[in-house]
Amino acid sequence: MKNGKLKAAVIGLGEGFRHVKAYKENPDYELVAVCDILPDPLPPRQAQRLESFNLAGTTERYLDYKEMLKGTDFDVVSVASPDFYHAEQSIACLEAGKHVICEKPMTLDLDEAAAIAETVRRTGKVFMIVHPTRYTPAFILAKKMVARGDIGELFMAETEYAHNYRHVGGSLYNWRRDKRRDPLLGGGCHAVDLLRWVVDDLPDEAFAYGVKKGLADWPIDFDSYFCLYKFKKGVIGKVMCSTGLSRPYTMRSVFYGTKGTIICDNMSPTMQLSSVPFYDKPLTGTYLDDTTPFIDIPVDVNNHNVESMVQLMADIVLRGAENHVDVVEGARTVSACAAAIESAHTGKPVKVRNDF
Ligand SMILES: NC(=O)c1ccc[n+]([C@@H]2O[C@H](COP(=O)([O-])OP(=O)(O)OC[C@H]3O[C@@H](n4cnc5c(N)ncnc54)[C@H](O)[C@@H]3O)[C@@H](O)[C@H]2O)c1
Repeated sequence: MKNGKLKAAVIGLGEGFRHVKAYKENPDYELVAVCDILPDPLPPRQAQRLESFNLAGTTERYLDYKEMLKGTDFDVVSVASPDFYHAEQSIACLEAGKHVICEKPMTLDLDEAAAIAETVRRTGKVFMIVHPTRYTPAFILAKKMVARGDIGELFMAETEYAHNYRHVGGSLYNWRRDKRRDPLLGGGCHAVDLLRWVVDDLPDEAFAYGVKKGLADWPIDFDSYFCLYKFKKGVIGKVMCSTGLSRPYTMRSVFYGTKGTIICDNMSPTMQLSSVPFYDKPLTGTYLDDTTPFIDIPVDVNNHNVESMVQLMADIVLRGAENHVDVVEGARTVSACAAAIESAHTGKPVKVRNDF
């Protein structure tokens, strides 16, 4: 802490630039260090972005996060390196007494998820997982409407992560094109997390099919999945995840209740509500005459809302706010993805581990 401000650092300067921007613009923070393995001279894109934040003289730059831990004192660190390094770097930073904001997916592995959870508990440091869909206005409103019963009792929910990874590269190399990085855990975790968050219950069992077509030449097993989840209180959920689609990116989601249905999306300025209760009146005339159209509800489009997460960290550390994106939430999403992946490989339903 310096002058009442938290000292912040960022590891990984791709998505990590959003964290750099959020810390720079937030009066609760002073950004004191950034780390990326990219040596000088930086590629033009990185060099320009770094320059635009005017970090010279105030922010140290490191090539190795371990050197950063030794060389600069800070309170909060964003781990925004490729997925494979999240566990190692988060654990090392927690052990060094830092609060951690970790990019999704928390890890690619259940044992690592458990190890981070154990480290968080032992060190008492704050750990937040970045699932920005929890800060997307349409999804926040959908969750609120489901929770207060606007669509009656929720019984079915579907979310999706529809992407084309042929257009998604990496700063240094395309690390997403790696056998260790299953697209359901790496990217589809957004949709799985959204499903868990809105249903607000623990998934008990997963069943999934996978196929590989759009990214046929990638060394991964599947690029596309349909996953089914059975939640403990009876809701059934479906996640469509594909990273090899010929269509624009979207996370279109539908929530079905006994008195209505919500259709929403992270890319659309409107969400839709149908509020026709079951059996509330006898059918007269044709089926179509008795169908009330969907109502459009305007919403802001705001994806990748890292600013809110950086603010939440400050509110937790400085003002005692509650952490609703903690290590258990991160681990449970990893676990729900891992169960579906196992099911797609074995052809059998798989129990979802939730005890982290
Ligand atoms: N929350 C979201 O919606 C969202 C969006 C995009 C990416 N991500 C996540 O952010 C992370 C980074 O993805 P990206 O798109 O920025 O990739 P990227 O390749 O654009 O950037 C990653 C950066 O990390 C650096 N790096 C690699 N290994 C490192 C190491 N060991 N230590 C420090 N730096 C290292 C690379 O040089 C690169 O500059 C991934 O975990 C990804 O899943 C999250």
